[in-house]
Amino acid sequence: MTAGLFDLRGKVAVVSGAASGMGRASALALAAHGATVVMLDRDVEGMARTGAAIAAAGGVAHAREHDVSSVAAAEALFAWIDAGPGRVDFLANIAGEGTLGDPRTISPAEIRRVLENLVVGRFALCQEAGKRMLAAGRGSIVNTGSLASVTGLGRGHIAYSMAMGAVVQMTRELSTEWAGGGVRVNAILPAQVMNPSLEKRIAADPRMERKWLSGIPAGRLGRPEDIQGLVVFLASDSSSWITGALIPMDGGNLAMNAGGSRGFADPLS
Ligand SMILES: NC(=O)c1ccc[n+]([C@@H]2O[C@H](COP(=O)([O-])OP(=O)(O)OC[C@H]3O[C@@H](n4cnc5c(N)ncnc54)[C@H](O)[C@@H]3O)[C@@H](O)[C@H]2O)c1
Repeated sequence: MTAGLFDLRGKVAVVSGAASGMGRASALALAAHGATVVMLDRDVEGMARTGAAIAAAGGVAHAREHDVSSVAAAEALFAWIDAGPGRVDFLANIAGEGTLGDPRTISPAEIRRVLENLVVGRFALCQEAGKRMLAAGRGSIVNTGSLASVTGLGRGHIAYSMAMGAVVQMTRELSTEWAGGGVRVNAILPAQVMNPSLEKRIAADPRMERKWLSGIPAGRLGRPEDIQGLVVFLASDSSSWITGALIPMDGGNLAMNAGGSRGFADPLS
């Protein structure tokens, strides 16, 4: 366990999407810094693997099967947390999924399904956690947004972008309402981070990887571990004056104009 600026001992951190990708990486890092982690996912086996890795490293984690689209499940979850771990200091809203669809043909029902998952379900978790954090006078919430929160991606991302745009406004509004009560709300905006869905898209069309890399000055796609430092920082008291921030985790993507070049020598790179 690591003491000092990023000491999370005594804190309870709730992490959605803990079975894989950035949720798993976050759960491992938070536990390694001393937090008791409540893992949420609909993938029970994946969570068991994350839980085993945490336990093997000497950490503590509880697993709870959870569908982040369900408002009723959010209420039941926090009743369970009240009766079990008994507090919540940090919430990382990481799980969520979009869908791809042509704006000319995607159904309003499909748009609504993505909004329920990425916005309403996450809001329900923020609300339940936020009420408890405000009562305690301290707490920190992180929502994962995306490049699609603040820029357009095209290629059928209409539903995902509408939802991710709402995630940043939810973050700003909650941070504005709750900062005076000691509760911070920030968002992390990742660029392309390798996961099974990106792997499939690269396998289907290898040009996609080149296309994404052309927008990332750092010259590589993201890895789930890239989120670890940010979540530990945002869960810790070291970030106590940071709220309402939208933090890019993108190898420089948002800083670069679409007509910019990654290197000096080759203006077309
Ligand atoms: N990977 C990227 O390039 C990228 C970029 C920007 C934003 N994001 C967002 O970050 C989040 C995590 O991405 P990742 O790459 O770690 O994904 P991932 O596919 O590796 O992991 C997602 C996890 O969430 C769980 N999950 C999905 N829907 C769920 C639901 N309804 N209820 C409970 N659990 C559910 C899955 O079982 C899985 O364990 C997503 O919200 C994604 O939209 C990802």
